[in-house]
Amino acid sequence: MTNLIDKIEKSKLPKHIAIIMDGNGRWAKQRQQERVFGHENGVVAVKETVEAAAELGIKYLTLYAFSTENWNRPKEEVDALMSLLVKTINQETKTLNDNNIRLTAIGDLQSLEKETYDELMTAINETSNNSKMTLILALSYSSKWEITNAMKMIAEKIKNNEIQPDQINQELISSYLTTSNIPDPEMLIRTSGEYRISNFLLWQIAYSELYFTPKLWPDFRKEDLYLAILDYQSRERRFGLISEQLNNLFN
Ligand code: IPE
Ligand code: IPE
Ligand code: MG
Repeated sequence: MTNLIDKIEKSKLPKHIAIIMDGNGRWAKQRQQERVFGHENGVVAVKETVEAAAELGIKYLTLYAFSTENWNRPKEEVDALMSLLVKTINQETKTLNDNNIRLTAIGDLQSLEKETYDELMTAINETSNNSKMTLILALSYSSKWEITNAMKMIAEKIKNNEIQPDQINQELISSYLTTSNIPDPEMLIRTSGEYRISNFLLWQIAYSELYFTPKLWPDFRKEDLYLAILDYQSRERRFGLISEQLNNLFN
């Protein structure tokens, strides 16, 4: 395992990796513990992954931390997740600055409790000048919420005559999503052996390479990220073309 990192081709790194961090509850259950214990241990995996991605030179890392649908979980779990979030953001701001990592967030941030929102904004402001990597937390995020929201904003502009319907194109739609300044992820990873997207970045992953691993999120380590990237690098991304066309393009 030690030299996995050396097999990674540095010139062919994805610029943006998005991760659905799943399996915390099952990890805790396997240990006869409460689900919150799994979330707490998930933080270890977050730190490892952020560190590994920054060391490799990944420019954008998006972590799905809490979905719109997750609000419907039992109140104790939601409360515990939010406190863990505040605590972790608070503790990690210095490390983010030491490593030149900028924090940002996507999602319906207005729906967060004031304390969570304030803590998040403080960390975002304090890291805003960092440039090595952008860490994007998807919080109270769902893709259908995001697209609906974008449609409302575009409709409002049309109503006010600021946009004409024939000006609507893919770039314009992208610019109204919460990811407007972020390139689409080349790769999406989901842990815990589930093969679904769970309302994450539906528009943005149109051509992403999907990678699924049975590892539960709290067990995810640097080597697991390296394995995912190696798998990505072994694929041929055709974007609707045929192999021969790609060879012509790049030779
Ligand atoms: C992912 O782990 C973390 C969040 C969704 C917040 P889960 O809590 O979904 O864990 P499982 O899927 O129940 O094992
Ligand atoms: C997706 O995980 C959301 C996050 C990882 C934050 P879930 O555990 O909520 O997804 P489902 O319910 O299994 O689809
Ligand atoms: Mg889950």
